[in-house]
Formats: sequence, C-alpha cells, structure tokens
Amino acid sequence: MSEPRVAIVGATGAVGQVALQVLEERNFPVGGLRLCASERSVGQRISFRGRDYEVELATPQLFAECDLALISVSAAVSRDLAPMAVAQGCVVIDDSSAFRMQPNVPLVVPEVNAADVEAHEGILSIPNCSTTPMVMALWPIHRSNPARRIVADTYQSVSGTGKAAVAELRAQSTQALEGQRVFAEQYPHQIAFNVIPQVEGFLDDGYTNEERKMREETRKIMHAPAIAISATCVRVPVMVSHSEALHVEFERPVSPQDARALMDGFPGLTIVDDPAASAYPMPIDAQGRDEVYVGRIREDSSRSGALAMWVVSDNLRKGAATNAVQIAEELLRRGALLRSVAHGA
Ligand SMILES: NC(=O)c1ccc[n+]([C@@H]2O[C@H](COP(=O)([O-])OP(=O)(O)OC[C@H]3O[C@@H](n4cnc5c(N)ncnc54)[C@H](OP(=O)(O)O)[C@@H]3O)[C@@H](O)[C@H]2O)c1
Repeated sequence: MSEPRVAIVGATGAVGQVALQVLEERNFPVGGLRLCASERSVGQRISFRGRDYEVELATPQLFAECDLALISVSAAVSRDLAPMAVAQGCVVIDDSSAFRMQPNVPLVVPEVNAADVEAHEGILSIPNCSTTPMVMALWPIHRSNPARRIVADTYQSVSGTGKAAVAELRAQSTQALEGQRVFAEQYPHQIAFNVIPQVEGFLDDGYTNEERKMREETRKIMHAPAIAISATCVRVPVMVSHSEALHVEFERPVSPQDARALMDGFPGLTIVDDPAASAYPMPIDAQGRDEVYVGRIREDSSRSGALAMWVVSDNLRKGAATNAVQIAEELLRRGALLRSVAHGA
C-alpha cells in the first residue's frame, strides 16, 4: 500500500494539529484524509495541502474507508475508538496511554526499536512525551553499555496536557499580572508563575502516574525490564517543550567525552553543550523542532563513572506527532501497514 487513506482523530487538538503539519512537512503519502474530533467540532473546516476538510465524527463507517488512523484523544476515548477502527481493518497509531503496556501493542520510538512495529496486531502506541526524549538520549550509550539506574526529574510544559491547558496558562498569566483572581481548572493549582510537582494522579507508592509511565515505558521500549528508574515529574509554566535532568549509571563507567562521541550523529539527537558560552538546550529553542537536544553532559559528582545530562524536546513533535508519523513511515517502509484483523485490543 503506497498511499494509505488516513484518519486523524483528535484533529482539532494540540497533537492532532501538529500531526497535520508533520504529515505535510514530511510529504507523507496520503491517499485520502478524514479529520475527526468530538461533536463540538463537527463541521469545522481544517486545511491540509491547500484543501479544506470538514471535521467529522469517528464512526465505524469512516474507519472502514481508511487504512490508517492516527488517534490523539484522551485514553478513555481511545479505548472506545481504537478497537472500533481495528475492527474495520484500520491500523491504529495511538498517542494516548490506553494501550501502551499491552503485550500485543508495540510501543515504538523508531530510532530505538523500529523493528517492533512488525509485531503489531492492529494497534501501535507512542510513548509518553517525557519517556521519548529520555530514551532517545540514553539509547546510543545503552545499546553497547546498558543503563542500570536512572534518576529523572522533568520540567514539563503545559501543552503536554493539551490545548485547554495552553489556554489556561495564557489566561492565568494575564489574570495574575493584572491583579485579578486566578482561576485554575486544568491543574490542582495555579500554573502561571508557579511550578507544580504533580503530573497526573498519585499512586499508592507516592509516585504519580506520569512517573510510573516513565519507568514502565522506558523498560518496554529498550527491552530492559531490570533498569532501576525513579522519576519526579514537574509541571512548569512553559508553553511547549519538556525538559529533563537525568542522572544515569551504566554497567561500565562512561566519561562525558565517551557519551558525547556515542551520541554525536545519532539520528534525531543534537548535542548543544558549550557551558563557557552558556549554550545548552532550552525549551524556547526546541519548540517547533523534531530533534531531541542534549547538553550539560558531565560526570555525576555523586557517583564515579555515572553521567548527568539535560535533555529538551518539543513534546508535541518528537514527543507525540512526529514520532507517530515516523511509526507510520516505518510501517509503510516495511510493508507492515496491512489491513489488520480485529484482535479486540
Ligand atoms: N500534548 C502532548 O504533548 C502529548 C504528547 C504525547 C501524547 N499525548 C496524548 O495525546 C492525546 C491527545 O492529547 P492533546 O494534547 O492533543 O489533547 P487536546 O489538545 O485536549 O485534544 C484532544 C482532542 O480529542 C478530541 N476529542 C475529544 N473527545 C472526542 C471524541 N469523543 N471523539 C473524537 N475526538 C474527541 C478533541 O476534539 P474537540 O476539539 O472537538 O474537543 C481534540 O481534538 C492524549 O491522550 C495525550 O495523553 C499528548
């Protein structure tokens, strides 16, 4: 199949909008396009490659007329729509957390585990937008010298929560600057001029669900079930791009020079690391870019032979839409975008 008919579900959302841009930029071969969102958006017109498309509801009939569905909606909605699409013979690339840890669902970062796409049974998932940059930064080292322990602290932008959180940060910034009452709906606290050490709900072990995802998804993608991982995920008042401070121990000692040599030239990774010139990755520079940026690479002063580094990436692009489109490209390249058999995932 050289030009699949594509459905974008969640086309009006933060990720769906970027997915349309990425399909255009990468010249993805689209044999037909259907755009879907909730009832609220039905009839809205969205332009793609110079043509207007009307937003529709995602129905079994619509999926039956498509080969590939890129689904970017909440996990709850995905749980309904993805199996519906698969039952109609559509292959689904899902951005939500709904299916990521299911054994029959490949969880893919193409630069790391592209071959996993071949095992799909209809649904493939992209990882969480903090997991992807961490795995991208560590894989060039890990593949020859496995990571044993990772401590990750994130600084996550509001667009990671979706378009409503972006609107809320804008509104709260104005409210706070003008001395008005600040309204918080998307997060448990005001996010403007604040940081919130909670991303998603808390679990019994004191970690949040986002922190659990970073741990479990990293192990699945890298096929490394024994890595010890502790994450603290923090929401910051940044519009786009997630940042993370990583402290990593490998089986054998790694010097910062070795790490740079291994990362240099790895597809999708760019090193920005010139402390004397105050050059390091920042969210404001990563926004709108597909690369994952790494800097501040140094020895972890608390453990000889371990590394500390700083990683930044656009959560809407490599953290979501770009990774999903790369998976679609990988399916096409490998001839694995076949009309699937319903498997009730
Ligand atoms: N944002 C990120 O950085 C990021 C990164 C990785 C993964 N993800 C995941 O990607 C998914 C989408 O995130 P987002 O940030 O794009 O959220 P968002 O901005 O809130 O967009 C949600 C989209 O879902 C649509 N939708 C809601 N209910 C629907 C329904 N019943 N049927 C069809 N469409 C429906 C919305 O349509 P309306 O406009 O009509 O409401 C909107 O297009 C989430 O699962 C998220 O966890 C997000």
